[in-house]
Amino acid sequence: MANKNLKIKTKNRIIYTSIPAPGTEKILKKLKAIESRSMHGQMPIVWKKAKNFNVYDIAGNKFIDFTSTIFVANIGHSNVELIKRLKKTLNNNLLSTYSFANEIRTKYLEKLLKFAGNKFKKGFLLSSGTEASEVVLKLMKLYGLKKNKNKLKVISINGNWHGRTMGAQSLSSDKSQSKWLSNKKDVNFIDFPYPWILKEQNISGADFAKKQILKLQKNKKLNFKSDVCGLILETFQGWGALFYPKDFVKYLSNFCKKNNIIFAFDEMQSGFSRTGKNFGFMHYGVEPDLICCGKGMGGGLPISGVIGKKELLDLPDTGSMSSTHSANPLVCEAGNAVIDEINKKNLNSEVSRKGKILSKELKRIKIKNKNIIKHISSKGLIAAIIFNKNNKKINKFITHIVFKCMQKGVLFIDTKKAAIKIGPPLVITDSAILEGIKVLEDTIAETRKLYEI
Ligand SMILES: Cc1ncc(COP(=O)(O)O)c(C=O)c1O
Repeated sequence: MANKNLKIKTKNRIIYTSIPAPGTEKILKKLKAIESRSMHGQMPIVWKKAKNFNVYDIAGNKFIDFTSTIFVANIGHSNVELIKRLKKTLNNNLLSTYSFANEIRTKYLEKLLKFAGNKFKKGFLLSSGTEASEVVLKLMKLYGLKKNKNKLKVISINGNWHGRTMGAQSLSSDKSQSKWLSNKKDVNFIDFPYPWILKEQNISGADFAKKQILKLQKNKKLNFKSDVCGLILETFQGWGALFYPKDFVKYLSNFCKKNNIIFAFDEMQSGFSRTGKNFGFMHYGVEPDLICCGKGMGGGLPISGVIGKKELLDLPDTGSMSSTHSANPLVCEAGNAVIDEINKKNLNSEVSRKGKILSKELKRIKIKNKNIIKHISSKGLIAAIIFNKNNKKINKFITHIVFKCMQKGVLFIDTKKAAIKIGPPLVITDSAILEGIKVLEDTIAETRKLYEI
């Protein structure tokens, strides 16, 4: 990079230019002119390359990444082993096989089922997360129909998220995103047990779940056994990285067993060691009937899947559930490399260890900012700082913080829901965690002065 006036240089970051870097505006303008605005709204940075836990922009500025491209780069950006194996696979002259068999898919499915704890006997591979959510919904309904023609209703959680296509969107409670859906009456929502609500109501997770189920029964006049086929949980509520109390999940698991309801987890964000376990549901001591996963599954390549009990995965007839581009040899080999890297690098225990460092730092930030920070959630390498919403300026304040951190070479996620979300690649070093979070801490302090908050 020619003629650089170094602005920041540390062990983990280098910022040579003003940010947004020169040239960024031009590319964004061009893209805005030819691409749906639905893809836009992120921080103004044009990615040139990404390696391990660093992102580089078009001017060569080097950032610490606390986004993992929304929990995709779990084994690190451009993981060396993954790329080596992709290159080898490319040399085999076999890029796609549709649903014809290939050996890599066989090997991958075996590995995936073992990784999920060998309790699930079958899987089905797709390309995106939202497709996997769709399949969960379809399997739940097929299961219900097999029992009786009215067992078609599904229970989901207010505030959870499962994707943008029709079925997945109907499972998501966000009204602004689902106005276009004509038929949502099959999906019924119960409330999320936010920690501040449990505290306010002085109620256990199990009692909260029981209250929600009884309320649903009364309001919607449901007979759970004959009307409801499935219940889906996002393993933690995405925007705030909020986990449920264990007894809330246990109550729902028992409720599903008692009423012959499929119990499913959406592991899109929580899978592949993000929380210090292979899959996040493993924290709750329950056994789901189905899980759907994606994101970190392919280490940057588009692969998603549904894993579950044999009798559920075999509900659709032979040949009636497949997708042209799913499970091609390249993405399956990426999946193989992700699981091998997790095992070889012992990422679960590393994530738990590093998660403690992250959590300690965030709790310290909360103590310093107790009048504006409502809650810190964290488990493994997923965390969020949730701010009090009572200040009108709070969302602008948060966007300003995330923008300023970017200018200092650290990328965080602005959820636009009064929360900053933190989820670095699992291979991030201790020193980069400490350095990045210190930048966040200082930027919160500076922005508080500026906004007089
Ligand atoms: C919990 C959850 N489920 C499903 C999805 C949809 O995944 P995709 O964007 O790959 O379609 C997302 C994406 O953010 C998610 O966070």
